[in-house]
Parts: sequence; structure tokens; C-alpha cells
Amino acid sequence: MSKKLFIETLGCAMNSRDSEHMIAELHEKEGYETTTELEHADLILINTCSVREKPVHKLFSELGGFNKRKKEGAKIGVCGCTASHLGEEIIKRAPYVNFVLGARNVSKISEVLHKDKAVEIDINYDESEFAFKDFRSSPYKAYINISIGCDKSCTFCIVPKTRGEEISIPADLILKETKKVVNEGVKEIFLLGQNVNNYGRRFSGEHEKVNFTQLLQKLSAVDGLERIRFTSPHPFHMDDAFIEEFAHNPKICKSMHMPLQSGSTKVLRDMKRGYTKEWFLNRVKKLRQECPEVSISTDIIVAFPGESEADFEDTIDVVKQVQFDQIFSFKYSPRPQTEAEHFTNVVDSEVGSERLSYLQELQNSILDELHQKCLGKTYRVYFESLIKDNFISGRSDNNIVIKVKGSEELLGQFRDVKITEIGRTMLTGEIVA
Ligand code: SAH
Ligand code: F3S
Repeated sequence: MSKKLFIETLGCAMNSRDSEHMIAELHEKEGYETTTELEHADLILINTCSVREKPVHKLFSELGGFNKRKKEGAKIGVCGCTASHLGEEIIKRAPYVNFVLGARNVSKISEVLHKDKAVEIDINYDESEFAFKDFRSSPYKAYINISIGCDKSCTFCIVPKTRGEEISIPADLILKETKKVVNEGVKEIFLLGQNVNNYGRRFSGEHEKVNFTQLLQKLSAVDGLERIRFTSPHPFHMDDAFIEEFAHNPKICKSMHMPLQSGSTKVLRDMKRGYTKEWFLNRVKKLRQECPEVSISTDIIVAFPGESEADFEDTIDVVKQVQFDQIFSFKYSPRPQTEAEHFTNVVDSEVGSERLSYLQELQNSILDELHQKCLGKTYRVYFESLIKDNFISGRSDNNIVIKVKGSEELLGQFRDVKITEIGRTMLTGEIVA
């Protein structure tokens, strides 16, 4: 009988791809199959996120629960960003943990498995050309990494300390992987990097110099590939050439994530984001001029140290002007090894919670209005998942989640869908062609 692996993945899309890599390595090299039953597992992995404090606190209570429920002799490994930043401390606080594997070391999963109490967390380790074994959780769309690490130094963010410096994956490897998944039937790829439009600044060996715009051009020439998505671009690197390629290349989905963080130029400077409120609005204007159908999502942090009422008003002003299609909003959470951790002008926690609720309520009312406008419109949907009550769901080119009554023969298919009902997270429609 094969050995069983239970894996829990927290955090971002990059963590999801790292988990797929570990599943593939463990399957090919060690004979593991995944299970959703923790009690049956021979190996339990938690792939952690450390971007905010809450998930880190939760980790230890969760580990305790896993240790009680696991079957005798099962191993527990902690991987990902919290592994990188806490390292040995994890084993000190939870001595039953068998190994700790950092976010930039996932290629070593089958090595650490055999070394009890191993701690592999070198953030300078270069995995940019490592040939991972292949596993994908969806046969319809594929995550493809284009770079590792991040070279920015946003003062609130722990990621550069957990994923190390930025190195681009050579374009020929990305192209090869894309052709392979398309041959296997995938029609949509999702390019991943912390800062995708900074692609090509540094490779680890001698490689053809290709920037992100050129990479998009190369990938869109692959026959059989229909859709390209990517996350996250940085507003600072949104030059005209990139926006024009995005707008006019028919294979690129018209959905742009533009992480604003704050609408106040002063706060943006304290965050070291490298752009101003005016630059951000100017990029949105250019984007909408070139591509009127684009949907724009963003990330916003409220109550960053020193954020005054007037600074928060600037954020609200940008939210009202831009009318984002989706906002991921967070209350600032101080992180170890970041510059902002030492800022003393903290915003009162209650004020932070009030600002967050205000922003979220405003966004809900904007969304209700935006969705009203979708009623009766027709979108091309790529179906990816079966959901309950005989519905099947997928996304429009501009990233709206849409469900229709239907069964699995629609999976991996494109259909035109007319919207008949609206909801906050998903719209309902009927197939018209
Ligand atoms: N380069 C990635 C950023 C990863 S972190 C990207 O652009 O998507 C994802 C989001 O978490 C950030 O955009 C930010 O809004 C939020 N975040 C990061 N550090 C945070 C902190 N210390 N407190 C609150 N939110 C934070
Ligand atoms: Fe973090 Fe800024 Fe990089 S948010 S991941 S340091 S672009």
C-alpha cells in the first residue's frame, strides 16, 4: 500500500504551487499519495503563510491538534514562509515536529524527510532552474512560476525575508512548461511571481534577456493556449509598453491586479512603494483608455503607522475614483524583520478596525452597483469546477466568477453565458452559446 500525505496549504497562489511541487516530488521519489484524512496520513505537511500575524499564532494551536490526531509514527513537517522566518524555534516550541522547510527550499522535501529535526531555511538557495516533478491540482488551468523571491523592500512586508532575493526563471523553461501543459489539455495559464512585471532583471545563469512584456508575447504564440493570467504586477513597473501589450493581446485576460496599499502619497513613501497617488491614478487612466473592459482588483492596508484621518481619506478617494472590481483589505499587522516594525507612530487598533469596516462597507456598495450593470450581459466563461446543487462554475475573461446549471461535461469548455442573477461573490447565468 502507498504511503499517505496530508497537506494543508495557507496563503497565496505561490504557496499553492509550492504545495503542488512538494506533492509531485514526494509522489515520484517517495511513493506518497495524497489523502484528505489526517488520521490516515504517514506524513503531515503544513505549508504556512507569515504575511500577517494571525496565521502564525494559529500555526502552533493547529500543530498541537495535528499531533494529537495523527496516527502513530506519522511525521509532521512545517514548510513555507513561517518555516523560513521562525526556523528552529518551531521545533523548540513544538518538539514533535520532524522537520522545517523554508519557502525557498521546497525542492529539498524528499531530503529533509529522512533527516529528523532538519531545518532547511536558506533564503539564498537558488531554485530558479530546479526541474520539479509534475503535479497539478486542476487539469484545466496551470500555475506557472516565472520568478522566485522579491527585490523590493516595502517596509511592512516580510516576504523578501522569507523568499529571498528576486531571480527570474529562464524564459525558455517557462515556454517549455507552457507547451507541455497545453499539450496535456490546459487552456489557461496563471503566471506567478511577487512582482511579475519586474521579470527579467536578473537570471542566475547566462540567459536570453527577456522582459515581462516580451515574455507575454512569447507565451501567447503557443498554439492551443487560450488564456493568460498573472499575479502580481507592481504599479511602479506598469510602463506604457506593458499596459499596451496587456490591452491588445487577445490571449491576456482583461483582469489586472494593482496593489495600491494606500492612497496617500505620504503613507506610500513611508511604505517605500515607489509611486504616488497621482502615478497610481494615471496608470489606471491609461489602462482604462487602452482597455475599457478591464476589471481591476487591489490590495489595501489600513492603519499603517502614521496613517492620519486625512491619509485614510486619500485611500477612500482612490477607491471611489477607481471603482475596483475587488479589494483585498487588511489591517496593518507588524511583522518581524521589517522596517515598519520599528515605527513608533502606531495607529490605535480600534481606529484601524473602524477604518477597515468603513472601507469594506464602501466597497460592498460599489460592488453591488457594478454587479447590477452585469445583469443581462453575456460573458465568455471557462468552466473549471463542479459546485453544489448541480451547478458548475468558471470565470469570465475579466475574472468574474459565474455559475450555471450544468454537469461535468462542461468542465474545461468555453461557453457564452448571460447573467440572470447577481450575488456578492458569484453571479448566476444561463448558457446562450
Ligand atoms: N507582491 C505580493 C505581495 C504579497 S503580500 C503582491 O503584490 O501580491 C500580499 C498582500 O498582503 C500585500 O499586497 C499587502 O496588502 C498585504 N500585506 C503584506 N504585509 C502586510 C502587513 N504587514 N500587514 C497587513 N497586510 C500586509
Ligand atoms: Fe512584499 Fe512589496 Fe515584495 S509587498 S512581496 S516587498 S513588492
